[in-house]
Amino acid sequence: MEQTMRNFFLFLSQNKMLTKLAKHYGLRFGAARFVAGETIDGAVDVVRELNDQGLDVTIDHLGEFVTTEEEAGYMTEHCIQAIRRIHQEKLSSQLSLKLTSMGLDISTELVMKNMEYILKEAKQYNVFITIDMEDYQRCGKTINIFKELKKRYDNVGTVLQAYLYRTEQDIKTLSGYAPNLRLVKGAYKESAAVAFPDKIDVDDSFKNLIKLHLLNGHYTAIATHDDQIIEYTKKLAVIHDIPRDQFEFQMLFGIRPERQKQLRKEGYTMRVYVPYGKDWYGYFMRRLAERPANVAFILKGIVKK
Ligand code: FDA
Repeated sequence: MEQTMRNFFLFLSQNKMLTKLAKHYGLRFGAARFVAGETIDGAVDVVRELNDQGLDVTIDHLGEFVTTEEEAGYMTEHCIQAIRRIHQEKLSSQLSLKLTSMGLDISTELVMKNMEYILKEAKQYNVFITIDMEDYQRCGKTINIFKELKKRYDNVGTVLQAYLYRTEQDIKTLSGYAPNLRLVKGAYKESAAVAFPDKIDVDDSFKNLIKLHLLNGHYTAIATHDDQIIEYTKKLAVIHDIPRDQFEFQMLFGIRPERQKQLRKEGYTMRVYVPYGKDWYGYFMRRLAERPANVAFILKGIVKK
């Protein structure tokens, strides 16, 4: 049943017609629990509140799968504005983005041009940029672009997904680049030909990747709401004397906020991923797919209103 719900929401996340409708009707149906408003102003307020609680942030202007150069240019300008606002407002925030919104599906030249522009601006203001990882079809391309950019910029990192069979090899290959990596379980619908179908294998792979990357001496963001993985990381750090400034925990805005504060209180760096923007629909559907219990929570909220 849970798997059917998951597939249903992942299917909805890719529906272009529903995306258009969602943009038109605004942040309704409980999406506001996971998305910090439709504008940068809304995001700035949320970031400030989180910073006041001692939490670090990475903001993400939502949008994916753009199909024209103009759209990619528009998304790039949004990133530039976000970087400037982070600087002006003195926020403790990084920026996350998706290469498809910078033109990945249009051409490599375009995405490189847009990323160079963003990274130069970000470097000037000391803002770190993380390239989110999208579906398997785009994983190899994303890694290759990251490698090219990392040769010239030290303020860029990317994400690797524990559910993919290829990731262990990727982490080993990338080690030569001393990358700052965010490790996650993986949020897209992938076939058993490329990804572990069983949660237990994904969890084992996640732990293995965390250990590999930390013992290679590289900075690691462990992005999960899963206590089992968090406790594993804490123990690993003690056993291997890994300093606390070599890793951080990350969670999504609106998910387990109390746990976020608790980890901060324990002295760990805790970064919250704060998405904002009009294009919130695909992101919201992926969150529902991860945890169908969220659907009940949101329905209750709608009934209460
Ligand atoms: P999982 O979903 O297995 O949940 C494990 C446990 O966490 C649950 O059993 C429960 O105890 C607890 N939990 C989870 N959700 C909860 C909730 N709503 N309320 C209370 N408890 C809850 N993916 C991707 O493919 N590319 C990317 O670039 C990113 N980027 C990214 C950034 C950040 C900061 C995060 C946190 C996640 C991502 N992801 C991602 C998403 C990631 O791949 C994954 O889909 C989600 O984090 C969910 O997986 P968990 O590791 O939380 O475990």
